[in-house]
Amino acid sequence: MSIPFISAEEAAGYIKNGDNVGFSGFTASGTPKVVTVALAERARALHEKGEEFKINLYTGASTNDHVDGELSRAEAIGTRAPYQSHKDCRAAINNGVIDYFDSHLSHMSQDLRYGFYGPIDVAIIEATEMSPNGDVILGAGLGMSPTVAMMAKKVIIEYSSYYHNSFRGFHDNYMPLDPPHRREIPIYRPSDRIGDTVLHIDPRKIVGVVPSNASESIKAFTQPDELTQQIGDNICNFLVDQLRKGLIPKEFLPIQSGVGNVANAVLYGLGANPEIPQFEMYTEVIQDAVMDLMEQGKCKFASTCALTFSDDAMLHFMDNIDFFRDKIVMRPGEISNSPEIVRRLGIIAMNTALEADIFGNVNSTHVLGTKMMNGIGGSGDFCRNGYLSIFSCPSIQKGGKISTIVPMVSHVDHSEHSVKILATEQGVADLRGKGPEERAKCIIENCVHPMYKELMWDYLKLSMGKGRHTLHDLQNAFAFHQAFIDNGDMSTAVFK
Ligand code: COA
Repeated sequence: MSIPFISAEEAAGYIKNGDNVGFSGFTASGTPKVVTVALAERARALHEKGEEFKINLYTGASTNDHVDGELSRAEAIGTRAPYQSHKDCRAAINNGVIDYFDSHLSHMSQDLRYGFYGPIDVAIIEATEMSPNGDVILGAGLGMSPTVAMMAKKVIIEYSSYYHNSFRGFHDNYMPLDPPHRREIPIYRPSDRIGDTVLHIDPRKIVGVVPSNASESIKAFTQPDELTQQIGDNICNFLVDQLRKGLIPKEFLPIQSGVGNVANAVLYGLGANPEIPQFEMYTEVIQDAVMDLMEQGKCKFASTCALTFSDDAMLHFMDNIDFFRDKIVMRPGEISNSPEIVRRLGIIAMNTALEADIFGNVNSTHVLGTKMMNGIGGSGDFCRNGYLSIFSCPSIQKGGKISTIVPMVSHVDHSEHSVKILATEQGVADLRGKGPEERAKCIIENCVHPMYKELMWDYLKLSMGKGRHTLHDLQNAFAFHQAFIDNGDMSTAVFK
């Protein structure tokens, strides 16, 4: 069967107002890059003629400027899920232009298959190789590709010729059966393969192939500064101590780490520490640091959903691709983030908080409880089910006008039941086996910035000795946030 090459504009013409559109990819990696630019153009033209045009946009995770940026600026997104990190998309969400709902990334594919969000009208899938029978080799990120390709009524392929080597063999496409037929997902080690290297798409659904030569456009992360390095060192020293005490098995455990500078600082710290043995990763994204650690022999293997490498690092990866072939597997998001596997493997989960409270509840998503930052992403998938769940953040933001440790979080993403360790540049609070009062004392002592410690003790004292299990004083629980709203500075909080 011959599948036609078509232009991005022709492809965009297959997408109708109100369509549910599913995308390949996870972060910018493996995410389409050309059809959406034409789609944004089409949306603008239709809007100018007074016609409605919005799609509902479902992705594996965040995307790139070509998707969230272009379509947000063109006001072409109706509903958006499950995660984004683009400033224009964020602004449209917080202004009420986009109807965004947040979801654990591991839930999204199955919730689509369960029919919770309706049909998938069109899937746009980035392929790096393809045969006429619809066998596709995906690119640098999988996300929800197997599910949206299977569900979609029409499939548009973006055929990328950007990479100068083949990704064949890196992917492990697998889709679990849905209840009541689901069995265990048979991954017992991060390197176990359970699916196909090729994604089979019914060729009768493929309406056309659009050529693309765009890179992922991912910038290199800046080197850790003093602050992130200190947080990274604190977590690293904590893990070494746990290993010495036998609280982490001597073989070590697979690591999940979020994106960003703290994650990089921890990984480099673990790499440099002679007491930490060679380790594996079971995570949703790997960044440049992991490639370095593999080349140093410290990281043995990584299971991931995406290779979120900077463009330069991706070129290096491509030049040395054979070295990495037996060290990396890329899986769909519902498998890379599967709670079942995370719990079975005993993952050390490391994620970032926007704010945490003195009882260990964590807010990863909402600034001052109201403004969406990015979404919960995979943090809940890993945190709730990990062997050790670590959250970190700097103890203050905005030059000290904000304390990230507050009496009560303004939004809860991860509750006290899941959060085991909290780390800032001040130190590490180990919350395991502690009741609320002991947790609060431990967090204030170890994580709160000195400029906020006294205020925090004052808050705790409001409830001490009053016969309460969790020492909250509801009248004052949001005094820090209120002080920021009123005066732009949490340190001006006054308790009633
Ligand atoms: N109150 C108000 N503003 C805050 C804040 C708080 N408690 N904490 C941080 N901020 C502001 C910062 O000042 C900064 O503002 P700026 O952009 O004007 O400089 C901004 O929020 C981002 O802070 P930063 O410390 O740079 O955050 P980050 O890049 O490390 O990201 C999260 C932190 C929580 C937003 C990010 O990790 C995330 O989206 N997490 C959820 C998803 C996830 O964990 N996925 C799993 C693994 S990938």
